[in-house]
Amino acid sequence: MTKTNVVYVCQHCGWKSLKWVGRCGGCGEWDSTIEELGTPAGSGYKSFTISRELPQPITQVKLLECPSIETGMEEFDRILGGGLIAGSAVLIGGTPGIGKSTLLLQVCQYISKKGYTTLYVTGEESVAQTKLRAERLSILSDNLLVVAETNLDFILENIHNTRPTLVVIDSIQMIYKSQIESAPGTVAQVRQCANDLISVAKSTGSAIFLVGHVTKQGIIAGPKVLEHMADTVLYFEGEKFQCYRILRVVKNRFGSTDEIGIFEMRKNGLQPVDNPSEIFISQGRRISAGSAIISCMEGTRALLVEIQALVTRANFGMPERKVSGVDYNRVSMILAILEKRIGLKLGGQDVFVNIVGGVQVDEPAADLGIAMTITSSFKEKVIPSDIVFVGEVGLGGEVRSVSQIEIRLKEAQRLGFKRAIVPKDNTKGIANDLGIELSEVCYLSEAVEIIG
Ligand code: TYD
Ligand code: MG
Repeated sequence: MTKTNVVYVCQHCGWKSLKWVGRCGGCGEWDSTIEELGTPAGSGYKSFTISRELPQPITQVKLLECPSIETGMEEFDRILGGGLIAGSAVLIGGTPGIGKSTLLLQVCQYISKKGYTTLYVTGEESVAQTKLRAERLSILSDNLLVVAETNLDFILENIHNTRPTLVVIDSIQMIYKSQIESAPGTVAQVRQCANDLISVAKSTGSAIFLVGHVTKQGIIAGPKVLEHMADTVLYFEGEKFQCYRILRVVKNRFGSTDEIGIFEMRKNGLQPVDNPSEIFISQGRRISAGSAIISCMEGTRALLVEIQALVTRANFGMPERKVSGVDYNRVSMILAILEKRIGLKLGGQDVFVNIVGGVQVDEPAADLGIAMTITSSFKEKVIPSDIVFVGEVGLGGEVRSVSQIEIRLKEAQRLGFKRAIVPKDNTKGIANDLGIELSEVCYLSEAVEIIG
């Protein structure tokens, strides 16, 4: 009788141990190892296909015939770096109900309408459910093939037989390879299934989309290698109860990262938002103190967002600091700068900072806007509604220059802003016909004076 070799595998990083351990020795995650049956050697468990190619000069490497197919959904094409690339693998993650299946079914529709075959493999829903959704999205094309299947071998066979331009696997955690004895969704299964699917996609020239579940921490469940294997990794973000969804690129071998696409979930599926800046600026903002508009960069384009702050006297001992949409440490730093350099007595105040519309802003260029909105709320002074702020704030209270100032100002001008408060260092060499009045500042105190 052959002895089954049980191993304990961390579901977070793939680290293995012969004994159960409470804490992973690889990544330090608690309670992440589960029992898996080790696969005997030679049972078809191969991690990479061996190629017999000889090294060749890079100048003689042939390019692919048809590098990319535009899906026709502009917002999505931009994220992919121009369109769908033959033989590429895209991993898309997001919380349940955010719209992964909806978006991919829509992409299938666009591609199949162009006459290409697409294959939608659903592991979570039945074919009938998929059809119901497709009807709702008014997608009914003979080029769109649907199959409810979770066995990897049958899926690979289907890909070989139908030779689709695009394959969608919804989701990778549901697929299993029968030769591996672990349950679907475990590290061993996910890694092997993804690897096999990606190799087939590369050899047949089909583009492949893998839907991945996310864990509580918001990362794609399964081994980190999954992200290494894919050419492009996308994350769907957004509050489930708000209609806006943000698709963020975290890795892209064919285009730029930190590009975002903004979609709105409607009755008939996800629709691209044409004028994203408008949704991040709340209506009726003219009346209250503690609100400022900043121009921040998201990938290659500028986005205007509204930052709100509320500063109130703390009633119980420790004052509270709550932030949403911006980095907590950055806000703490700005509070310290305001206290020390401007002399605002914020020590006994509760401070809340929020970005309207649920977008995340992670760039230092937002500093000036954050500082001004906190000052505005503290002093109960309304910032005029046609001013936009751009600038990084240093510990000495100086306002530092930021990148791509012209693109930021053009977007502000386009949306009707009359005045921009910008770092002095930034204004050299920029066109003076931007149609927006520039107030240059060297120190935070100068910006505070401008708003009074
Ligand atoms: P879904 O694509 O099933 O999410 P995921 O695959 O990421 O789990 O999205 C389902 C949600 O989207 C569900 O709450 C209903 C909503 N929805 C719409 O609002 N309009 C639509 O046209 C569709 C198809 C779904
Ligand atoms: Mg789904």
